[in-house]
Amino acid sequence: MPTAQPIDLDAVSGIIREHADLPGAMLPTLHAIQHKLGWIPAEAVPLVASALNVSRAEVQGVLDFYHEFRRTPPGRHVVQICRAESCQAMGGQALEAHARAELGVNFHQTTDDGAVTLEPVYCLGNCACSPAIRVDDDVHGRVSADGFDALMAELRGAEAAA
Ligand code: FES
Repeated sequence: MPTAQPIDLDAVSGIIREHADLPGAMLPTLHAIQHKLGWIPAEAVPLVASALNVSRAEVQGVLDFYHEFRRTPPGRHVVQICRAESCQAMGGQALEAHARAELGVNFHQTTDDGAVTLEPVYCLGNCACSPAIRVDDDVHGRVSADGFDALMAELRGAEAAA
C-alpha cells in the first residue's frame, strides 16, 4: 500500500483560494486539489465547503458522483484502462482481465509495493487505436497483453534505476 504522506493543507487552502471565485468553482477546485496531491483528502472537504459557501454534504455528493476523484492516495504510478465502447469492441475486456491478473489488483486498488494503482477510464480520446490505456500522463494505443507487460516492465525498470 502507498505510504501515508502528511497532507499539505496549506497547499489545499491556496488552491481553494485560487479557484473559489471561478464560475462553477467546485469541479475546477476539486480537480486542482487532485492534480496537486493525487487525491482528495477528507480534510479538504470542509475547507472547500466553507470557501464555496456550500454544505459539506454537497462537496461529498460531487466526490461521490464523479468516480475519477480519488479518496485515497494513489500508487507511484496510475494505470488507467479504457472501458468505453470502442476499446471494449477491440479486446478491452481481455486486456482488463490480463492487467488485473498481472498486477494482482482490481480497479481502484494499488499493488502491494505501492507502485501501481489500476483505474478504469471512459475514453481517452484514442479510439482509433483501441484498446487504449494511460500510464501516468502517457496514452498508449493498440495495447496487447504483451504490450501491457512491456509497459509495466518499463515502469518498474525506471523505478529500479531511479
Ligand atoms: S473508447 Fe477507448 S479511447 Fe475512446
